[in-house]
Amino acid sequence: MLGVIGAGTMGNGIAQTFAAHGHDVTMIDADAAAAERGRAAIEKSLGRFVKKEKMTRDEAATILARVTTSTDYGTLAGADLVVEAVIEDLAVKRSVFGRLDEVVQEDAILATNTSSIWITEIAAATKRADKVIGMHFMNPVPLMKLIEVIRGHDTSDETTQRVFALAEGLGKVPVEVNDSPGFVSNRVLMPMLNEAIFCLYEGVGTAEAIDTVMKLGMAHPMGPLALADFVGLDVCLAILEVLHKDLGDDKYRPCPLLRKMVMAGHLGRKTGRGFYEY
Ligand code: CAA
Repeated sequence: MLGVIGAGTMGNGIAQTFAAHGHDVTMIDADAAAAERGRAAIEKSLGRFVKKEKMTRDEAATILARVTTSTDYGTLAGADLVVEAVIEDLAVKRSVFGRLDEVVQEDAILATNTSSIWITEIAAATKRADKVIGMHFMNPVPLMKLIEVIRGHDTSDETTQRVFALAEGLGKVPVEVNDSPGFVSNRVLMPMLNEAIFCLYEGVGTAEAIDTVMKLGMAHPMGPLALADFVGLDVCLAILEVLHKDLGDDKYRPCPLLRKMVMAGHLGRKTGRGFYEY
């Protein structure tokens, strides 16, 4: 059985992906209502695949039946691997890993879906740093092929090999990168999104113009501002803060407009309003 901590956008997408490839999954959230919302999101996503005739209704039901939701970490005692996908906050992640280390069987792998925080620092909250690793999935998890695999300072070869085998079994492409703030994905993506927000902030173009330039000019599937809304403006800000602090270069400073929108609670798709209305 595999475990997922956090039933939000990434957590429920990871749980769905595990279940769609034959694994029984226990998806944990701090409160039962959030866990239920995560399960409903999985059902909705599977419904899109049924509508597109990528799977039958029965196959979707079989996949959903593999997902158990709970608020009790104790249900993870027998898990072979658990992926943490809670908010992008070091203290919260360290507390989750400390609890998992106490509960889960000793040869289980503890993975984090963090988008920017040092794996090594999260691993230090456990007594099994050799079995802690980054499995960075991409949103929407059921569709995106990449899993960015990040080794902490003490992650073992065996742990890395087990994660690569699991990723390939999920039909994903694992790519190993080194432990560094933002890894490769967000070290490259977030400054681009931030620059697009600066373009809007400084009046270089409207949101639609900026996104259209990048979609038609660079063949991006979504414009950078639409993507920021999709990822979540709070997530983008949290990642840029980590890059700015840990790499110590002002080129990562978050655009004031991004900060203001997060303060105002306009976080993108998840609140119905970001650079666009949803
Ligand atoms: N479940 C099932 N199907 C889904 C889905 C989901 N969650 N989301 C989208 N789809 C399907 C739709 O059913 C549709 O299927 P068809 O193509 O067969 O019609 C297809 O995907 C397209 O969906 P949409 O019409 O909603 O929109 P789209 O055509 O623009 O595709 C997208 C959506 C796949 C997200 C595409 O826009 C895309 O690839 N965008 C870039 C996403 C990206 O860059 N992700 C990485 C962000 S960084 C990150 O995630 C990590 C981090 O640390 C922040």
